[in-house]
Amino acid sequence: MLHRKMLDGVKWDDFQQLSLEEKAPYFVQSSGRPYHCLIAQQFDREALDGLCDLATRIRRIGKSKVGMDFLSSLLMHKRAMLYFTQPSTRTFLSFYSACQILGIRPAEVRDPSISSEMKGETKDDTMRTFSSFFDLIIMRTPLQGLAERTAWLLSNTERPVPIINAGSGKDQHPTQALLDIYTLARSFEKRGGIDGKTVLFCGDLARGRTVRSLSGLLQQYRGVKLIFAAPECLQIGEDILAQLKENGVEYEITEDFKGHIHEADAVYMTRLQDEWDKKPGESSRGYNPEDYYFAGEDLDRLRNTAVIMHPLPRRAEISTDCDNDSRAVYWRQMRNGMWIRSALIATIFGRDTEITNYYTLNIK
Ligand code: CP
Repeated sequence: MLHRKMLDGVKWDDFQQLSLEEKAPYFVQSSGRPYHCLIAQQFDREALDGLCDLATRIRRIGKSKVGMDFLSSLLMHKRAMLYFTQPSTRTFLSFYSACQILGIRPAEVRDPSISSEMKGETKDDTMRTFSSFFDLIIMRTPLQGLAERTAWLLSNTERPVPIINAGSGKDQHPTQALLDIYTLARSFEKRGGIDGKTVLFCGDLARGRTVRSLSGLLQQYRGVKLIFAAPECLQIGEDILAQLKENGVEYEITEDFKGHIHEADAVYMTRLQDEWDKKPGESSRGYNPEDYYFAGEDLDRLRNTAVIMHPLPRRAEISTDCDNDSRAVYWRQMRNGMWIRSALIATIFGRDTEITNYYTLNIK
């Protein structure tokens, strides 16, 4: 368990210099529960197991009207701002749904051109404005570090509120990584869990923040192996490899995706993140996209017990011929986002024990 450090006790310039591991204790409550959710590195194995168990309880409680009524009574006194100034479908909707499940009233800003940011208001002032009206800020932004900056800023005001990073620049997408872990845990529930499994990542690993955050969380599991399959120009960052080395996690870098499918317990496909290209088409040159495509016939190379995942949205990384194969779990993966995000928000607001007690009395 992490031991809390106070964000209002550190200067912003000093805080920015800290490593991810050094930052993590600033994001938890004295109970060890998350207060902010900003980086994958703030979650240890105990926290991950707790969130996965809670997500399952919420999912099962939510199957009945009486269960849904219970869940929606938990946080009906809270309001959430969903500040999403980068495109999103499923992260936005699953957070919106998670708020509704727990009774939180959500509001949204998705288009900064109709907010007073357009009149020259600073980001700091915009965030202080949100914290005047809301009890939770969930934010997706192209600006790396804005979620951390907001957490620090508000901790130094009279209205600190929890901040959830729903995707920041090319850097982190911690709640996607949480739902990926939940999906892997459910998929391997009867096969010893995630420990000892091999995950094969494929696609734009250089700019895919989901892979960066999930690589961080997978380091919490014993004996995992990560294989990164991508053309050289899209290969995973050296900072992630350094973390893996430091934590003794086995990994392999390869340009041969198809040649590694048979080894994988999970194949994690990602799309080209060409919205970050400086010149149009620059990241599509110098390799054959077919080499990084999961075709219908590739199902024959895949183990019977393996799963195919994708954070979505999909372009052409996986043939739709795979969609009805029982090993294709990307639609379930997406829906898992709603349950794990509900679990995260319930934990942030300290309602996890109440949910567990209800589950033990009424469902188990
Ligand atoms: N996986 C994910 O972040 O999807 P959206 O961009 O649709 O939110």
